[in-house]
Amino acid sequence: MSLKISSFEEYQSEYNRSINNPNEFWAEKAKHFYWREQWDSVLEWDFKEPNVKWFVNGKLNITENCLDRHLETIGGKVAIIWEPNNPNEEVVKLTYRQLHEQVCKFANVLKNNGAKKGDRICIYMPMVPELAIATLACARIGAIHSVVFAGFSAKALAERINDATCNIILTSDEGYRGSKTIAIKSIVDEALESCDSIQKSIVLKRTGGDVSMQPKRDVWLHEEMLKVDETCNAEEMDAEDELFVLYTSGSTGKPKGIVHTTGGYMVYTAYSFQNVFQYSNDEVYWCTADIGWITGHSYIVYGPLLSGATTLMFEGVPTYPDAGRFWEIVDKHQVNIFYTAPTAIRALEACDIDFVNKHSLSSLKVLGSVGEPINEEAWEWYHKNIGKEKCPIVDTWWQTETGGIMISPLAGITKLKPSFATLPLPGIQPCLVDSDGNEIEGNDVEGNLCVKFPWPSMLRTIYGEHERCKQTYFSTYKGKYFTGDGCKRDENGMYRITGRVDDVINVSGHRMGTAEVEDALDQHIDVVESAVVGYPHDIKGQGIYAYVICVKEVNEDELRKELLEIVTKEIGPIAKPDKIQIVKGLPKTRSGKIMRRILRKIAEGDTSNLGDISTLLDPDIVKEIQKGAENI
Ligand code: WT7
Repeated sequence: MSLKISSFEEYQSEYNRSINNPNEFWAEKAKHFYWREQWDSVLEWDFKEPNVKWFVNGKLNITENCLDRHLETIGGKVAIIWEPNNPNEEVVKLTYRQLHEQVCKFANVLKNNGAKKGDRICIYMPMVPELAIATLACARIGAIHSVVFAGFSAKALAERINDATCNIILTSDEGYRGSKTIAIKSIVDEALESCDSIQKSIVLKRTGGDVSMQPKRDVWLHEEMLKVDETCNAEEMDAEDELFVLYTSGSTGKPKGIVHTTGGYMVYTAYSFQNVFQYSNDEVYWCTADIGWITGHSYIVYGPLLSGATTLMFEGVPTYPDAGRFWEIVDKHQVNIFYTAPTAIRALEACDIDFVNKHSLSSLKVLGSVGEPINEEAWEWYHKNIGKEKCPIVDTWWQTETGGIMISPLAGITKLKPSFATLPLPGIQPCLVDSDGNEIEGNDVEGNLCVKFPWPSMLRTIYGEHERCKQTYFSTYKGKYFTGDGCKRDENGMYRITGRVDDVINVSGHRMGTAEVEDALDQHIDVVESAVVGYPHDIKGQGIYAYVICVKEVNEDELRKELLEIVTKEIGPIAKPDKIQIVKGLPKTRSGKIMRRILRKIAEGDTSNLGDISTLLDPDIVKEIQKGAENI
């Protein structure tokens, strides 16, 4: 099945066609897949509600498209290459036939343990093949998977399990990450103390470490796998049946369970995968993300498998056993397409160049970047040292909510411009709007990035909170989906994402709500109030800067230590502030609103122009905070 565009002229004509006649365009793409029953109409939509339906009344199962469909043609092709954390441990390679068998067996295990179509199943696992298998097994039986990144704390995990009332959790004893062993099951045990909905936990033996198994509730995956056979008919799903929930942070409130459905997500992830990366038959593709994020869902599991690709999964971290690990893996598995995040590039750029130069990297053809704006310096380093100036870099802009890549070069087809995501994919209609909500036409302009027409893999709702979905994404600018990002369009119509315009920060490619971190800090008994902002960080892109007001004089070092512990417990280590400043007060307007603009400036170390501070309740506090910041 090829959905590939092969020249820039073709891109332009396909783009125009997708705008002038989206129904015809997407119907044609969807016909490449296996549907049990055809759709009645391609698209029904209303951004006011929002109510969006693609391939209305079409019936399918996405795993038949990822697996069964390939058996006859490429059953013996490697679907998943798994590279373990420890380079001396054995690599696992699963052909499409083997993966199909594993998924069917796992699906039968789920059924034996009471899983049914429509159930929500939480997956909290390290990056092992069973994580991909578990995800597909859920889809096979029509259960909605909710993968939670295994770096989240017990508290954060429990919150997500409860929000979606999951009845089963799939997990492992422990996990390996670099030189550390992570006590996955005991985090789950702690979480489950406050999760009444969970009936079963199915546990993979990964390390063989000691774990406690609760009789009746906890079962071992390897024991369950012995009880089942390898045939499992796929459940017939409606195109709009929910495929998964994935939690992400917003500027306010608790994390949102972004809901994606089956048909449109399938068509768009495969279409975008093939076009952006220009994947061809025998290539090895590696995306370094974790399946716990949307990048892993769409571009480790679904997009590649739908396309019959060989997708590599890596269990470990870029710096273990040393900073050459990524490059060693590229050579070892002859990786052709390599997709990673700017934060990883910057971290490796900071290490000795010998870690790169020890390896040939001659198999590489295409490089990708995702998760945050890539600065020009990192782009150039990546291009020169990893791509040897011969590999196009696709800077892919998208979001958990968009399900798939929205703005990106097509490798080898679109002209590149460092730090620009360049042009929208066919079917994507981005626009820039000013603060009054008027669309800004023409080129060489800047505004808030919106999308004005539906695309197949867009979110359908926030789990259990449809009104919040409407408020967050479809109310700021009437009739448009608002991304939360600022964006420039240059004189040639190329897009450059400038970063979030809301109170969301992006730390090492991980999205975080400043409010979430504040809520965690405020749990400390000595903290009265806190304000969190992002500031430029050489490696992480953005670092977390927290200002806290205390009830009394405190031992600052001790408080800092305790605050880091609290954040780790409430959210996870990824949310730990890089800097904590104890302040007497916060710059507030007379109506009590924190002036974050000022706090951001101070955190940046740029105090030359703080703007008008005369409207503040207590303008003197600014000087005091500024002075204190010098010692942080
Ligand atoms: C936010 C979405 C979608 C994959 C991973 C992140 C930022 C993402 C880029 C890029 C500039 C980018 C945006 C976006 N972002 N890719 N290529 N250039 N910014 O998904 O966690 O949902 O975060 O990441 O700010 O809104 P996410």
